[in-house]
Amino acid sequence: MALCRSTCKGMPSCPQGMRLEVTARPAREAGMAPVAGGSDPACPIDPAMLCSSQVISRRLYGPIWKSTFGHYRNINIGSPVVLEQLLRQEGKYPMRSDMALWKEHRDTRRLPYGPFTEEGERWYRLRQVLNKRLLKPSEALLYADAIGEVVSDLMVRLREERSRSPSGVLVGDVANLLYRFALEGISYILFETRIGCLKQQVPAETQHFIDSINLMCLPFWDRYLDSWDTIFAFGKKLIDRKMEELEGQVERGKEVSGYLSYLLASGRLSLDEVYGSVAELLLAGVDTTSNTLSWALYHLSRDPDIQETLYQELKAVVPADRFPAAEDIPKLPMLRAIIKETLRVYPVVPTNARVFYEKDIVIGDYLFPKNTLFVLAHYAMSHDETYFPEPERFLPQRWLRGHGSPHHPFSSIPFGYGVRACVGRRIAELEMHLALARVSRDPPTLGILA
Ligand code: HEM
Repeated sequence: MALCRSTCKGMPSCPQGMRLEVTARPAREAGMAPVAGGSDPACPIDPAMLCSSQVISRRLYGPIWKSTFGHYRNINIGSPVVLEQLLRQEGKYPMRSDMALWKEHRDTRRLPYGPFTEEGERWYRLRQVLNKRLLKPSEALLYADAIGEVVSDLMVRLREERSRSPSGVLVGDVANLLYRFALEGISYILFETRIGCLKQQVPAETQHFIDSINLMCLPFWDRYLDSWDTIFAFGKKLIDRKMEELEGQVERGKEVSGYLSYLLASGRLSLDEVYGSVAELLLAGVDTTSNTLSWALYHLSRDPDIQETLYQELKAVVPADRFPAAEDIPKLPMLRAIIKETLRVYPVVPTNARVFYEKDIVIGDYLFPKNTLFVLAHYAMSHDETYFPEPERFLPQRWLRGHGSPHHPFSSIPFGYGVRACVGRRIAELEMHLALARVSRDPPTLGILA
């Protein structure tokens, strides 16, 4: 899995640290497609090139093709029809890829694995605990008030930035502010603690944490390990603090609420397992949502018609005397369509992977022996004009009932598929919908981006 436009952090199939061979050997002759390498010195893989190479390969080779990537031999899937056939054969414990770099950090430091790095039965047990209170839309609503509070702080910061700018209307670095919003939001949900990302002066400890995440993609091994250490230490401190609070509460016979409290009180995970899982949830929950929001706002600012449609929709559903709330979201199809279209055009995970280690896989007339590494070319599929006419255009209306063109259900699956799909999907959606609704309900705020 590779994260596009963001630090890749050694995600699976963005094999940071793997020496990338750009095979000059004619691909056709070898029966394989070449894979482009990165030009960004800070990251061995250039995500933009990976995305366009997917599109080119799919055009050249069709729905399924072979490629090499370092020592990996891949079978690439570029068609939703084939992808559906593949994913429907998933077993009980789907495996993404070996996550070697993440695991190496945990092994070196003797730390536990989390949901990304764990596999097999242990992963399954972990997910059963983590899923609860996160996965269902109704469970995500538990965090609506917390998210609303953070959105309010984001709005305050946007206004402050505007008024401090020379023109009185400009926010210089919207992406940075959204990054801090997402980090504050996920931390508040996970730790039930505010960490001050949206304060004028970010606390030193929080700033150190932010800097560490940003340094993660640099090709320096020690720095990479240090960054993970900071993430774990940051999480551990907040978890330990919560543990102490919780002990007091339980002694006083008070019922516990909140995600971390639930994990700690469930008795189904060791403290070590909680440390490992929370660190990975924390890392997964920041630039995923903030990048998506940045792109959504970018497109809204460039398209006054979409902006106006969204504004009118919000005006009709949300009375002027209150803020948009979670209960409004089902009545806001354009709002949801904008997020869906953003994730189609800019999928956070443009390339994912699956290894079927339990059994051979049959797709059409082909038999793939077990342990084949399948690379899922999501970017190519969500940019395929067969399913999305004018695929490069940002057209949220294609997702609206009655307006939309028919598209295959597997052509854009931004949160993945099946039991291994994104555990944070519901809270990510809630965060993005609430933030976008508030910014768009407040026209002067959106004006800043125009
Ligand atoms: C726009 C927001 C997000 C997108 C598009 C996204 C997308 C994805 C995708 C595609 C996967 C892989 C699924 C698969 O292999 O089938 C994934 C996995 C995961 N995501 Fe997200 N994600 C987002 C936000 C979040 C948030 C907010 C959290 C944290 C609460 C999170 C936590 C995770 C975790 C822990 C996994 C690994 C699950 C496992 O392997 O069992 N994600 N995400």
